[in-house]
Amino acid sequence: MPPLRGPLSSSIPYLKPQFLFGNMIQTGIFNSDQAIFQIWSQLKSKYGDLYYYWLLLPSGLVSIKEESKYKRHAKILLPMFRKAKIVPYRDIIVQCTNKIIQKWHKNKGEPARLEANLVEQCQQLLLNVIICIAFDPHISEEQLQQLSGTVNEFAQHTYAVPLYFGFLPDIITKLYLKLNWKYQQVLKTLHEYENEPIDKGADGIEKTNLLSLMLSSLDETEQHGLSKEEIMDEILLLIFAGYETTSTALSWFIYYMSKYPQVQMKIKQELKQYDDTSNLDQLVYVDCVIKEVLRYAPIIDSTARVCEQNDSSFDGIEVRKGDTIIIPLQNLHRDPRYWKLNPNEFLPERFLTDDKDHQPMAMIPFGAGHRQCAGQDLARYELKVIVVQLMKSVTFIDGGEQMNSGGYSQQLVVTPRHLAVYIQFDQ
Ligand code: HEM
Repeated sequence: MPPLRGPLSSSIPYLKPQFLFGNMIQTGIFNSDQAIFQIWSQLKSKYGDLYYYWLLLPSGLVSIKEESKYKRHAKILLPMFRKAKIVPYRDIIVQCTNKIIQKWHKNKGEPARLEANLVEQCQQLLLNVIICIAFDPHISEEQLQQLSGTVNEFAQHTYAVPLYFGFLPDIITKLYLKLNWKYQQVLKTLHEYENEPIDKGADGIEKTNLLSLMLSSLDETEQHGLSKEEIMDEILLLIFAGYETTSTALSWFIYYMSKYPQVQMKIKQELKQYDDTSNLDQLVYVDCVIKEVLRYAPIIDSTARVCEQNDSSFDGIEVRKGDTIIIPLQNLHRDPRYWKLNPNEFLPERFLTDDKDHQPMAMIPFGAGHRQCAGQDLARYELKVIVVQLMKSVTFIDGGEQMNSGGYSQQLVVTPRHLAVYIQFDQ
């Protein structure tokens, strides 16, 4: 039966697709140990910058495709994530980071202990941060544990596979969620919180969290604001979109620091120059390191756009209405044509020197255009606050060739497969 539709231009190379599965089995997206970004890179080596690929089309529950609905949501949500709005969350981020440092600190004085579950610890840290931001910075430890436990369990075991990748048609996705008790549990917990600020009355609401900010735009007619159901979807989307991505960046940061002690040392030197590190803007080298982590680590393999116009031509390449264009991010981030210093090396200094004025589209970890990542300012800010807080007190030391060998573990995001470091407290 395949292909559903062939390439418009015969000049675009492709691998002959298989019945039902397109190119997904042949290239190993379903059945191999490789991460998806490695598959994109191999196809690039074989076919060049442009090739045709048969993939089941996405149709996620929370991804909004309808433009008018998107605009209504974006008008309310995007301003909540502008830089000025997120700086007040600094204390929350510091407090959550301090908790993890204190946990490690219990072992201070003993020989440094190998921490082998840092991917999970980073996830827990960022989940705690986003829950406090979404609900209430003063949430009790018990409530935090309950919420993060439910969300985490759901995200790890059920949500990610069919929904994030969005392979299922909407109707099946909705049915799947209706019957999924973990999802229903998350929703039930959300609804408990949702009632709190409303019961206090609109004027009395202290707008310190995302949920109450969103609830102040409540509009069941769905003409200008968001309905309650939409608000719940948005909160869930923000939690899921926000914690795994950012925590993965943090895991890769820890891994690279353990492998590049000279970079870690330079961060510490920069921090020592200032008595007060709360003015983050002055920490230029920290910025470079975070940028390099976002360039070098394959956190998200690709993004996609669907052609909305009737048959169009871009740079002489014909694209049909409905065609999906996949943009493999790592292929750009590591393309030697766009970087003066070797893009296959981890070199934060590049952003201060030769690659300072790199081609902007050669590095798009948060996507680009009007559907680029809504939470990118928050993500960058969270990372910077956490990195500074960690680097003020601990040093990550390589846990050895075997235990800390890196590698890739493909889930929705790509986390380090083997990450284990010694945590040493600085004097
Ligand atoms: C290092 C952390 C993060 C990375 C690498 C990342 C990456 C991305 C990418 C690549 C996209 C697709 C953009 C496109 O197609 O052009 C995206 C979309 C999105 N991200 Fe992030 N993200 C991160 C953190 C966050 C956070 C913290 C939030 C919110 C709390 C968030 C919320 C979203 C939302 C809502 C979208 C969909 C935007 C739309 O469709 O209009 N992300 N992200």
